[in-house]
Amino acid sequence: LFLSELNALPASEFERHFAGVLEHSPHYAAAVAAGRPYADAEAVAGAFAHAVHADTEAAQLALIRAHPDLAGKAALAGNLTAESASEQASAGLDRLNTEEFAEFQRLNSAYHEKFGLPYVVCVRENTKDSIFEGARRRLSHTPDQERAAALHEIGRIARLRVLDLVAEG
Ligand code: GUN
Repeated sequence: LFLSELNALPASEFERHFAGVLEHSPHYAAAVAAGRPYADAEAVAGAFAHAVHADTEAAQLALIRAHPDLAGKAALAGNLTAESASEQASAGLDRLNTEEFAEFQRLNSAYHEKFGLPYVVCVRENTKDSIFEGARRRLSHTPDQERAAALHEIGRIARLRVLDLVAEG
């Protein structure tokens, strides 16, 4: 749909259209619907980022925790959302060799152990190597730094998902 159409939809239909922008967190689309009209898709993406930024710390942590592990159990079992599956495939995370897979499990475990969160990165803006590298680098963060980094990445993920959902022209 074009943005002009999205701006004119009943709120419930707007919310349904953008329900998958934030992983397993469709409720944010209600806040974004209430902020219409938007001038362009970037403004819609900014509204999602703002809604998350303005939320409580507990809600932000719940949003981060709503993300499956990259190359994790849900991926192996085929239980990912369509968005997460295609993003993970874009960086080849669905085709890791045995060594890469083992290294990913090590990094995911170390990250969970230190922060009690899944490692979230905007996969589509990265390569397999930079995703590995980012996990190692981010393991040296403090918990506050890492919550901010994860929310930043979630904003980037949401932005690309919004751009996919708004027709150009
Ligand atoms: N980056 C983009 N999508 C995802 C996801 O589903 N899970 C995690 N952990 N990171 C992501």
